[in-house]
Amino acid sequence: MSPGSPGEIPVDFHRIGLLTQRAGQPTQVPFLARLLEPTALAEVQDIHQEALRHVPEPGLVRSDSEAFFAYHFSGEGHTLGVFAEDRLIAYGILSLPAGPDYGYDRFLEDLGLPASEWPRMAQLTGVAVRPEWRGNHLHRRLCAWRLELAHAVHRWQIAAVSAPGNPCSWRNLLAAGLWIKGIKLLGGQQLRYLLHADLRGSPPLDFASAVTVEVSAMTKQRRLLATGYWGYAAVVEKNVQQLRYARPLPS
Ligand SMILES: CC(C)(COP(=O)(O)OP(=O)(O)OC[C@H]1O[C@@H](n2cnc3c(N)ncnc32)[C@H](O)[C@@H]1OP(=O)(O)O)[C@@H](O)C(=O)NCCC(=O)NCCS
Repeated sequence: MSPGSPGEIPVDFHRIGLLTQRAGQPTQVPFLARLLEPTALAEVQDIHQEALRHVPEPGLVRSDSEAFFAYHFSGEGHTLGVFAEDRLIAYGILSLPAGPDYGYDRFLEDLGLPASEWPRMAQLTGVAVRPEWRGNHLHRRLCAWRLELAHAVHRWQIAAVSAPGNPCSWRNLLAAGLWIKGIKLLGGQQLRYLLHADLRGSPPLDFASAVTVEVSAMTKQRRLLATGYWGYAAVVEKNVQQLRYARPLPS
């Protein structure tokens, strides 16, 4: 393979580790993470439905179709699964759109990237952990593993969306290295942060410009984003979710 040509998705990708919490209690249960086959469709959908039943308010997690899940086993994307005690307990979807005809959410235009970047786009488009296994940082790991897979196929532009009211989601995306670059209405009505990372690197932030904003202050965040600020860190003060924004240093 020449240095500039994209590699293949490593179909034998797998990771092992230990789950140390179950329903909030200490435990030690091994897990295996690997790419899923289409035969996992029913289990993935079951986890998705369980997640939808547990969301604290409607609209924080979008209800995705069977066709969406089926498409991302081997179409324009892949799905990672985490197994414990022979059961699927979490999944994370990596969309690898071939181009503008990709039939699901596409974030290239929202990020202001040129059409020539389509072959470099990878999107973190769906994740859920069964409630009893939450708190093991599986989401953060599923993000990191999907970045590894994206890097293997030279998809350096990483995009994701996350509801401001779902801090468990965007805190993990920030921890994985994505920054908030915009705010969009998903499907025209669901408010989402638009997050992005370029795996080849980004300009450093000018921390002298840093400001902290409450997550509920959407107008202020829109203004900051419109003037070139990026959201880069989560802060909780007196139980209030906040975000730190700063401008990139001029290159
Ligand atoms: C977002 C999600 C995948 C994160 O799961 P996770 O990787 O297990 O979460 P973490 O390990 O980062 O948990 C961090 C903390 O948040 C808590 N937590 C995680 N998810 C939680 C939830 N949905 N509700 C309440 N607390 C939650 C954990 O108990 C943990 O608390 P602690 O630090 O005090 O121990 C999980 O909440 C989930 O499946 N949510 C539903 C689907 C969803 O929102 N997907 C993202 C948008 S598509």
